[in-house]
Amino acid sequence: MVVAQSKVTVVKRRMAMAKIIAGIGTSHIPTVGAVIDNDLMHGEYWDPFIKGIAPAREWMAKTKPDVCLIVYNDHASAFSLKNISTFGIGVAESYEPADEGYGPRQVPICKGNPALSWHIAESLILDEFDMTITNEMPVDHGLTVPLSIMYNQPEEWPCQVIPLYVNVVQYPQPTGNRCYNLGKAIRKAVESFPEDITVAIFGTGGLSHQLQGERAGLINEAYDADWLEKLVNNPMAIKDISHTEYLRETGSEGIEAIMWLVMRGAMDEDVKEVYRFTHTPVSNTNYGLVIMENKENNQKEKK
Ligand SMILES: [Fe+2]
Repeated sequence: MVVAQSKVTVVKRRMAMAKIIAGIGTSHIPTVGAVIDNDLMHGEYWDPFIKGIAPAREWMAKTKPDVCLIVYNDHASAFSLKNISTFGIGVAESYEPADEGYGPRQVPICKGNPALSWHIAESLILDEFDMTITNEMPVDHGLTVPLSIMYNQPEEWPCQVIPLYVNVVQYPQPTGNRCYNLGKAIRKAVESFPEDITVAIFGTGGLSHQLQGERAGLINEAYDADWLEKLVNNPMAIKDISHTEYLRETGSEGIEAIMWLVMRGAMDEDVKEVYRFTHTPVSNTNYGLVIMENKENNQKEKK
């Protein structure tokens, strides 16, 4: 007897998954927000800065990430020093701009992505990063200034936002290595989220600056330049820099740069650098901006 065999066809479908397509490092200088908000960003002082960030805005307008996951620090705006979390993540529907003493910035409310936030929180905690989960919080200049730098002043932010905060204001801060490894865990978390969305991860703060004490006004351009070059091309060489070295070389607030290591850890080891810009001084800091793309993940067609 001849039995007719039915043909079985296996249709291979690409799994829809979220992807980290780019990493952005930028200082989050509050003055930049105030100057943009009050239409004062023009003239001799600001012209080089405006020219310097213009290519980043063009890249952002073209790249259009669906979600911006912004690694930043709260400057005692949402949380007081009564309770200090080393790492935390927002899981809210939205985040309002914080009142930092002179009224909230007149910038759009950030729309969140609670499903992705909760997915990341769960994945990170199962990966042994004990995140604080925050259901409600306003976001200060640490998060809103990077958005203004990349998007200027839109009616609405053209992306969803996930805030991920790191304690860099109260000793003991986490190590650079811990931040770098958190970035790796974030990547694993994002890229196991079953939706076809693109994510840009921001590391914010720095570069060298000191706001108080005998060395107030410290800027160390040479150190920052070397650090940035290594951040892009050899992050293993800077991930173990000690807190003491950051303090000595980049001032008391320069340690904010460890948040850029979270971003860097979420990227490929070998990245395509799209843009780098530094400018001194901006307020009393050395301003830094870097954009890098993951080579493979950037091939996705935009809708
Ligand atoms: Fe800051």
